[in-house]
Amino acid sequence: MAQAEMTFPADFLWGTATASYQVEGNNKNSDWWVWEQDPGNIANNHKSELACNWWQNAEADLDLAAEMGTNAHRMSLEWSRIEPEPSVFSNDALDRYRQILQAMIDRNIEPMVTLHHFSNPLWLVEKGDFDSDIVVEYFQRYTDRVVSTLGNLVAKWITINEPMVYFYSRYMEKVFPQPNNSGMRAGIHSLRQMLRCHAAAYHTIKDKYPDAPVGVAKNFPIIEPRLDGNRLDHWWASRISRMFNDFWLDALQDGRIRWPFGRGKIKNLAGSFDFVGINYYTRFYVKFPPGKDVIDKQWGPDALVSDGNYGEVYPYGLYRAIKHVLRYKKPIFITENGLPDARDKQRPAFIMDHLRQIWQAISFCYPVMGYYHWSLVDNFEWDRGWTQRFGLIALDPDTQERTWRTSGRLYSEICSSYKVSSDMAQRYAPQMMPVMFPGDPVSVAESQDL
Ligand code: BGC
Repeated sequence: MAQAEMTFPADFLWGTATASYQVEGNNKNSDWWVWEQDPGNIANNHKSELACNWWQNAEADLDLAAEMGTNAHRMSLEWSRIEPEPSVFSNDALDRYRQILQAMIDRNIEPMVTLHHFSNPLWLVEKGDFDSDIVVEYFQRYTDRVVSTLGNLVAKWITINEPMVYFYSRYMEKVFPQPNNSGMRAGIHSLRQMLRCHAAAYHTIKDKYPDAPVGVAKNFPIIEPRLDGNRLDHWWASRISRMFNDFWLDALQDGRIRWPFGRGKIKNLAGSFDFVGINYYTRFYVKFPPGKDVIDKQWGPDALVSDGNYGEVYPYGLYRAIKHVLRYKKPIFITENGLPDARDKQRPAFIMDHLRQIWQAISFCYPVMGYYHWSLVDNFEWDRGWTQRFGLIALDPDTQERTWRTSGRLYSEICSSYKVSSDMAQRYAPQMMPVMFPGDPVSVAESQDL
């Protein structure tokens, strides 16, 4: 039977994403490791322990990524491994990262590397981490060492993952490892120091590899007023969205810091990004005045919600996020997108519907160049431990056994063919037929219940 196809460009990057702390295991020099040991900090007191055992054998999962047909992977480096003591760099750690990067290249998987993904060396925390005055110099030196030793293997760089999530989870929600000074002033100062670290890292990479694209991975939740919200709720939603979604990239664009994070310019910050990385998961609702948490986990009666109340499945939000960042006039990568769904009930439809949004954006000539699904394999989900499973491949952390999820097979078909087709929808997520391919005779019949 004829099938409809949403075809993607021949140079589109089909990737998966992971972060060092979540997959490597035994990251004992990180602030997260110490945080995990205190009862009550992680759901069910779960521990990362071996995580996905990448430090010993990332290659096994890279084999699976190659079998899946992906041609890109986003990973991160663990600063606490590379610089276990201040100014002491570990050649063993750098060698191991070289092996992992080479293993990707050998499998035709293009590496995108993040320098900082939520986790800090313990010594940095003692020195006051991002709230300190020394952090910019240390971050610059760490970047310099990384770029000198690994730079020829890295296709694309991301400096700092989701700075606003880091700020929010650490200083407001307080579910990330707590710094010595966890007050709001310290948080705001940290955010400004992170901008300085970003600028320093950007120029350090560009000095050595002027053609290597360097960008950001910015989480873009859609933020809306609560259902039936009043004018104040609408006003508040737009304020929160500006703070959470626009502050960071606007600062990178023109070098300026804005309300409520201060005023003034940061040297060398303006124009310091070559692409926008969108991490997109969900939409949130807010109300004014806010309750204890700024963000309300409240959904409409028909909302589809992923495991553990993580978030509403709202694919159109990805299209909205893409449109929103067109203002920066840069190439766009979807550097994370996924959901916790241990039983894989929602993921096949989730993938198809989110890719449909990207396909639609591309059909308007919006410059979306690649998609990195979070995640390749179930991994240690920060304060939620092992309670939430994001993998295209399931992992039993006790036995290290991997099992392909159906959605992994679907993603494999998509990556290998550069298309999402009505045939795939019929086989993997028939409920998507009337939504994605409404003109198809099968969907018409189904939607009319004949
Ligand atoms: C983070 C990941 C995390 C994912 C799922 C993103 O905010 O970058 O580290 O695992 O969300 O919660």
